[in-house]
Amino acid sequence: MLVLGIETSCDDTCAAVVRDGREILSNVIASQDHLHQKFGGVVPEIACRKHVESLQPTIREALERAEVSLKDIQGIAVTNRPGLIGALITGVSAAKAMALTLEVPIVGVHHLESHIWANFLAERDLQFPFVSLIVSGGHTDLVLARAPGDYTLLARTADDAAGECFDKSARALGLGWPGGPAVDRLAREGDANKARFPRARVGDGLDFSFSGLKTAVLRYLDSRPMDVSLADVAAGLQEAIVDVLVANTVRAAEACGVRWVAVGGGVAANSLLKERMREACDERGIRLAIPPGRLCTDNAAMVAAAGHWRLERGMDDGLELDAFATEPLADVRPVAA
Ligand code: KG4
Ligand code: ZN
Repeated sequence: MLVLGIETSCDDTCAAVVRDGREILSNVIASQDHLHQKFGGVVPEIACRKHVESLQPTIREALERAEVSLKDIQGIAVTNRPGLIGALITGVSAAKAMALTLEVPIVGVHHLESHIWANFLAERDLQFPFVSLIVSGGHTDLVLARAPGDYTLLARTADDAAGECFDKSARALGLGWPGGPAVDRLAREGDANKARFPRARVGDGLDFSFSGLKTAVLRYLDSRPMDVSLADVAAGLQEAIVDVLVANTVRAAEACGVRWVAVGGGVAANSLLKERMREACDERGIRLAIPPGRLCTDNAAMVAAAGHWRLERGMDDGLELDAFATEPLADVRPVAA
């Protein structure tokens, strides 16, 4: 089954064609980073206007690269929740117009569910149940994924998301936006032991907290010792974030007794996180799925993969499909047998 995926939940305009939920024929991402850079974050109105402009050319490019035509598309999967509401509406409206014209089924996909499904595109052996760490600019969630559509939230961040901590600290370090990739690059030249930051624990549970770390970095930069470079601070910050992400994820996997851990979301592209998560999982005999960078950050191939499971089982949200700014992942409907 050939599925067209569409993703416009935040600032990237994305379209992809995926065969049978596994084979990526195209995965086009029109980045808006250059438009939001000078504001140090995503400006919702700019994002929506740019989606309106970019969506049709992006879909056309996805079809061309996949070497298929519109009439070959058998179903449409579109991110419809959660996200910037105006941005979601542009994608959902375009997807509905196409479903109506092509007379094919359409399904709405939860953004976090699609980050989970990115792992199936990258790792053929991945099997339910597994613990998924979804770590992005807006989320830091630990989820027990039992079956398609059956997700239980185990932990979340009490305040900032890990990506937000990367982005805000990067701004204080004078790095560009988004900050995560810039910190990742700079940290390679630094020594994390020269600038140590606190690892926040939220009680005895698995929840995360990153706002204290961000504040600690800002304070440290105000009176940084002469022999500590910005690269050392970047390395110390990255190490503090990664330590907690890895520790809580493996604790969750052990507590749930699962054999697999799957990591997704933009921060999963972080090189230290990949390395440390791999070491921690190997030590415990847990198998690990982390997609390559292009499938970690927002993209539409993961949306097509997540939607395929429902489309394949004959589900169709029809033209009543709506967009929602918020919805917990646990409210996602299980896939019909
Ligand atoms: O999943 P995503 O593309 O969009 C959201 O749904 O938020 O994630 C974007 C986040 C940003 O905070 C960005 O700084 C972070 O992912 N990010 C990284 C890296 N690449 C992207 N953080 C750390 N290291 C990276 N290499
Ligand atoms: Zn995302």
